Amino acid sequence: MTTQHSELQYLPADLQQELLPQHVAVIMDGNGRWAKRQGLPRIMGHKRGVDTLKDLLRCCKDWGIKALTAYAFSTENWKRPQEEVEFLMGLFQRVLRQELREMVEENVQIQFVGNLKALPTALQAEISRSMETTKNNQSIKFTVATNYGGRQEILQACRAIAQKVQAGVLKPEEISEELFESHLYTAGIADPDLLIRTSGEMRLSNFLLWQMAYGEIYITDTLWPDFDRKEFHRALCAYQQRERRFGKI
Ligand code: IPE
Ligand code: IPE
Ligand code: MG
Repeated sequence: MTTQHSELQYLPADLQQELLPQHVAVIMDGNGRWAKRQGLPRIMGHKRGVDTLKDLLRCCKDWGIKALTAYAFSTENWKRPQEEVEFLMGLFQRVLRQELREMVEENVQIQFVGNLKALPTALQAEISRSMETTKNNQSIKFTVATNYGGRQEILQACRAIAQKVQAGVLKPEEISEELFESHLYTAGIADPDLLIRTSGEMRLSNFLLWQMAYGEIYITDTLWPDFDRKEFHRALCAYQQRERRFGKI
């Protein structure tokens, strides 16, 4: 994380602390289009996207938001050209190694969700090290969804639960929402209050299907590398205006 002296270092006056989302999730989309518009290769968009994420994490911390979850790589993203996939895996590994010390200093707890076993082993090692090193940190819970798919997450939870039923340690009638959630990758992480998707696409792309049952969705045309504190401020202002009814009137 780089230190930035942003004009928005402190919570803007028009945002009320008590109306902020506790947990923000982001679908970081539009890196490729951003690069294309600059006449650059797609990977340059991914590199810039890392800077955006670092500042958003710092911003959440500065403004008192306790959890941030970012969609870094979906189970469908393996279908991209091999060079791009390899670049992304290498980028994740490098960034993780470079940023670990600062995350420790900033008291950030990092965790990864997704099918991590299918990632390159060097990246898996970096992931384990960062999760272990920061597990007791308190300032913000930063979750990175890598090789994550909402349907796969739900299926693996079903399998784990079915095995317990088969083994006789669980009765079908004991399967509650709470029990089910405790088998998801996100066990122990509260559902997001606000999901932001950049680049104008209006879909979930297999992200947090269970967890987003009642989360608010905010979509901006801004491409991810351009999503700065001003844009985040705008998203939070919009969120503050929402009335969350949860089925009530
Ligand atoms: C999001 O940006 C980053 C990842 C999916 C890893 P994209 O790479 O999807 O950018 P666009 O959508 O092609 O512009
Ligand atoms: C969603 O973006 C996945 C991530 C941001 C990691 P995509 O660019 O892969 O989504 P689609 O393909 O447009 O739905
Ligand atoms: Mg995209």
